Amino acid sequence: MNTTALFKHNYNSTAHVVVNQGGTSSGKTYAIEQVLFTLAVKEKLIITIVGQDIPNLKSGAMRDAAAIHTSSKALQRVIKSFNKTDRIYEFVNGSVIEFKSYANAQDAKSGKRDYLFVNEANGIEWDVYTELALRTRKRIFIDYNPNSGFWVHEKLLGRPGVEIFITDHRHNPFLEDTVRYKIESLKNEDEELWKVYARGLTGRITGLVFSNWHICEVIPADAKLLAAGLDFGFTNDETGCILVYKQSGELWVDEVLYETGLTNADISKKLSAAGVKKSIQIIADSAEPKSIEELKRLGWQVTGAKKGADSVNHSIDILKRYKINVTRSSVNLRKELGKYKWKTDKSGNTINQPIDACNHLIDPLRYVALNKLKVYSVKQNNSKLPYTQPQPTGRGVFEEFVGLS
Ligand SMILES: Nc1ncnc2c1ncn2[C@@H]1O[C@H](COP(=O)(O)OP(=O)(O)OP(=O)(O)O)[C@@H](O)[C@H]1O
Ligand SMILES: [Mg+2]
Repeated sequence: MNTTALFKHNYNSTAHVVVNQGGTSSGKTYAIEQVLFTLAVKEKLIITIVGQDIPNLKSGAMRDAAAIHTSSKALQRVIKSFNKTDRIYEFVNGSVIEFKSYANAQDAKSGKRDYLFVNEANGIEWDVYTELALRTRKRIFIDYNPNSGFWVHEKLLGRPGVEIFITDHRHNPFLEDTVRYKIESLKNEDEELWKVYARGLTGRITGLVFSNWHICEVIPADAKLLAAGLDFGFTNDETGCILVYKQSGELWVDEVLYETGLTNADISKKLSAAGVKKSIQIIADSAEPKSIEELKRLGWQVTGAKKGADSVNHSIDILKRYKINVTRSSVNLRKELGKYKWKTDKSGNTINQPIDACNHLIDPLRYVALNKLKVYSVKQNNSKLPYTQPQPTGRGVFEEFVGLS
């Protein structure tokens, strides 16, 4: 098993609560899980890994755990099974590692454990944490990106028995340079985002573009599909695709694709595999006519998004008029919405221009807005108002005033 310095620090810590604050991709989740696997092999233990919800766990902690499992023959020998339905690793020695999410504090009162790992802790309520912590015998690990101060800062740091490690991508030797480059290039977009995601320092991310979105469990059965939105990426940027529906005057959005390294043939295969029908209209980034043409030749109905002067702000204005429901499984879109902010100038004042990052699923949403959700300007609206010709009224006020009546 290849390990990093993070592994050693977490493994050797004797604190009751071990806090791993850090930038993205520093190796926090991976290292903590390696520690937990190692501990589970040594003695019979119950270990709980808790996340905000199952889709979040699946795209992060569970994926890292699967990578750790498959990369170690020694680990495979001592793990009896992984139950996908219950999300539990069972070890030959009787240890278990379970992945859980809890709806509320009452729910978190069930079960006891030896070790607890609170993954992306800023998505977990304080009262859920306290119930879980009360029922943890040995040690608690916590990890998160510090978008802003929360209960870890307010209630844990500085207390006895609490240790903190602050890390960033430079602590992770296993990361590809393209990922590093992408993280560092946040500096060109927004200093505050860079501070949080590239350096792991506690930020105060304000000025998010969208606050009009909510998590929904499913798309209503009677929702009308407007179109799919597609943004092309390759090496550094993800190719992103979403489906946009409308129902009861609200938008409903479901993430379909978010992946780097996809050719147009790959995109076609992935869309079909995700159940997207070829009859669906796809609104794509019009800056890539060649990709649009290639997808068309593969049988897809692709149209370029109507870009014009100020189309970014115009499409944001359109989207802000709706309540946007995002399915819980749209983990990457949820993450982008939580980072997509207005730029700030050198003195920290917000300017009327969003960052050009964290938008590989937001841009597709904007494309659908531009082509499918027209908002008439005030002038156009006025010209459509019913117009009645004033009727001659005979003698009016003027005549009375001058004594002609
Ligand atoms: N010891 C390791 N061996 C091999 N690969 C590793 C190791 N540690 C980290 N990685 C790689 O680095 C990636 C990022 O690590 P990880 O997911 O743990 O970061 P993180 O700090 O939890 O990031 P985030 O804050 O975004 O959740 C992993 O998905 C994995 O590919
Ligand atoms: Mg992580």
